[in-house]
Amino acid sequence: MARSALLNVMVAAAMKAGRGLSRDFGEVQNLQVSMKGPGDFVSSADRRAEDVIRTELQRARPDYGLLMEESGTIEGRDKQHRWIVDPLDGTTNFLHGIPIFAISIALEREGQIVAGVIYNPAMDELYTAERGQGAFLNDRRLRVAGRRELSQCVIGTGIPHLGRGNHGKFLEEMRLVMREVSGIRRMGAAALDLAYIAAGRLDGFWEQNLSAWDIAAGILMVREAGGYVSDLTGGATMLESGQICAGNETVHRTLIDLLAKAG
Ligand code: IPD
Ligand code: CA
Ligand code: CA
Repeated sequence: MARSALLNVMVAAAMKAGRGLSRDFGEVQNLQVSMKGPGDFVSSADRRAEDVIRTELQRARPDYGLLMEESGTIEGRDKQHRWIVDPLDGTTNFLHGIPIFAISIALEREGQIVAGVIYNPAMDELYTAERGQGAFLNDRRLRVAGRRELSQCVIGTGIPHLGRGNHGKFLEEMRLVMREVSGIRRMGAAALDLAYIAAGRLDGFWEQNLSAWDIAAGILMVREAGGYVSDLTGGATMLESGQICAGNETVHRTLIDLLAKAG
């Protein structure tokens, strides 16, 4: 699998930040038992990871703009290119010592996502995709699952929580989906939900109230693995609306139709 120079830059940045997060994850496990807990430590781990990624990306392409969860928008001289970065997706898992978290880096060119990297350092799983070149887990080419019957499908979602999302609407969506499927999972890291769709582990995924950095790399990952991604009405506003639905062609369509029935 030949990677472009730009994808190599993204992989190097993700791996470097991943080494730091792995060390910090070990420390988080020690801090669980302390009175104060690991909260402040995790916030600084998150910022350290973002600093590493920003430094690496800016060194390679000083003119590109950035959209990063912690630093926000950094305008670049080059208006055509923008990195979209979540330095730690799955913060709540990380904080609780659950090894399901990832670094997500996407490259947007003229409004289109052209490369994506999602790296889970705890499992040493590196997902990469380039537009038109397929999606990979480490060196293995990925393909979305082929299941078409919802009754055989495991579907991922994000459950709103304290202070976030529309709880009533979510319960209605859940009621519609859970009676049709073989299982529902809440992994806790949207970037990995999409990577798992690409890898054929999850058959479908839907969530609302996400941010561009949660999903930018994952959208390309799913498409390059032959899957379908849209907002909840079948449109392409995922990055702006924060709504997403993904799966193979049949599961994606079936989920959109089902979720449309939620009030
Ligand atoms: C969160 C995760 C989670 C999703 C949340 C996101 P964070 O990102 O992706 O799965 O349900 O809406 O905010 O805060 O861990 O980077
Ligand atoms: Ca996130
Ligand atoms: Ca984050």
